[in-house]
Amino acid sequence: MSIEKFNDLFTELNQSIERDDFVKITLSKPLSKRNELTNVYIRLIYIKEEAQLSFTYRYKTNDQVKNYAFSEAKQLIADLLLASFRFATLFTLEKDVQVFVSKKKVVTTKNQYPSFKNKPPETHNKPKERKITNSEFLKHLGISDKEGNIIHKMADKYRQINKYLEIIDDLVSSSKLSNTIHIVDMGSGKGYLTFALYDFLTNQKGFDVEITGIELRQKLVDYCNDIAKKCDFEKLKFECKSIEDYTEKRIDILIALHACDTATDDAIFKGLSSKSDIIITAPCCHKQIRQQVKGTAQESPILKYGIFKERQFEMVTDTMRALLLEKENYQTKIFEFVSNEHTRKNVMLVGKKSSKKNDSKLIGQKIEQLKSDFGVTEHYLEKLIKEA
Ligand SMILES: C[S@@+](CC[C@H](N)C(=O)[O-])C[C@H]1O[C@@H](n2cnc3c(N)ncnc32)[C@H](O)[C@@H]1O
Repeated sequence: MSIEKFNDLFTELNQSIERDDFVKITLSKPLSKRNELTNVYIRLIYIKEEAQLSFTYRYKTNDQVKNYAFSEAKQLIADLLLASFRFATLFTLEKDVQVFVSKKKVVTTKNQYPSFKNKPPETHNKPKERKITNSEFLKHLGISDKEGNIIHKMADKYRQINKYLEIIDDLVSSSKLSNTIHIVDMGSGKGYLTFALYDFLTNQKGFDVEITGIELRQKLVDYCNDIAKKCDFEKLKFECKSIEDYTEKRIDILIALHACDTATDDAIFKGLSSKSDIIITAPCCHKQIRQQVKGTAQESPILKYGIFKERQFEMVTDTMRALLLEKENYQTKIFEFVSNEHTRKNVMLVGKKSSKKNDSKLIGQKIEQLKSDFGVTEHYLEKLIKEA
């Protein structure tokens, strides 16, 4: 029986369930490149308190999820390994168990150091729909390999992209945007998120979008324009210039993800000046306010400790950004958009233009109070708005 070939794997699986440290099983390396099924991802779930294994079948263009009782699941894993895949890994908190099936169907099993320190939640939540399905651009950007499998070290980036598309999907669905959406991504870098957004909005959502990436580094601009051409993304282009020098009047959605320090303010300001419907930022390296208060005695004992001081001024900087947006009649939200297990740069500040007038006087007072509480003389975005 095929299942006996995998006794070692299933013994390890049983033991990890008993130890309560099962993470997941993945089946990878399809036997044929033409195989529509690229990998299978198996996690533990509980249905009416009964443990089952939930299989996510990852096809080139979509995912399918099916749940099985253990005995059935083991037979399926054995069948899949003999018919479709060369490789399986059982991830537990104690070890990774790697299974290799040779061309002659000889099975070898070896143990490795564990890749995971924490278990995923054992729920029956439907896995989130993946936003990226057709993924030619992922290959060009080095996120997936030639077979379309996500490269291990790019898994966090891939997760971040999907999360980001989920957020944009909600924002776009709840906004009234014009027929052709003009999007500018300021500080677009290597363009991971810019490409994903273009693909998602045009190829999946059917919007007519024009996306421009603004980036200081010529090398990255050339790299991204070249990939846009290879992918036939006709209305995606990248320009080498600084955010400050961007002068196009029309922006419907302004994006600035991890644009360094005050580049985020420059980008928000461009969004405000063009009355952008949506402003999406993920601020990073908050130096401006921190440097301003350097050496100034701080009243609060919290500010005695370097690490807390840094966090405090990140919060002050971004709260003031949000207040300044609210003063301009935007509704704002600040939230963590990916788990901070993967990156500390995980705060997202989103502004949505509202027809409702905010109490700008009251907001102005809140800004002044915040400045006085933390000894801040000026916020860079505030300066830009004042000078305009
Ligand atoms: C940390 S990377 C982020 C890239 C991308 N947005 C992402 O999240 O993957 C920041 C990028 O912004 C660019 N940048 C920083 N300041 C800029 C400015 N004032 N104008 C244009 N680009 C800028 C940098 O060259 C860099 O490529």
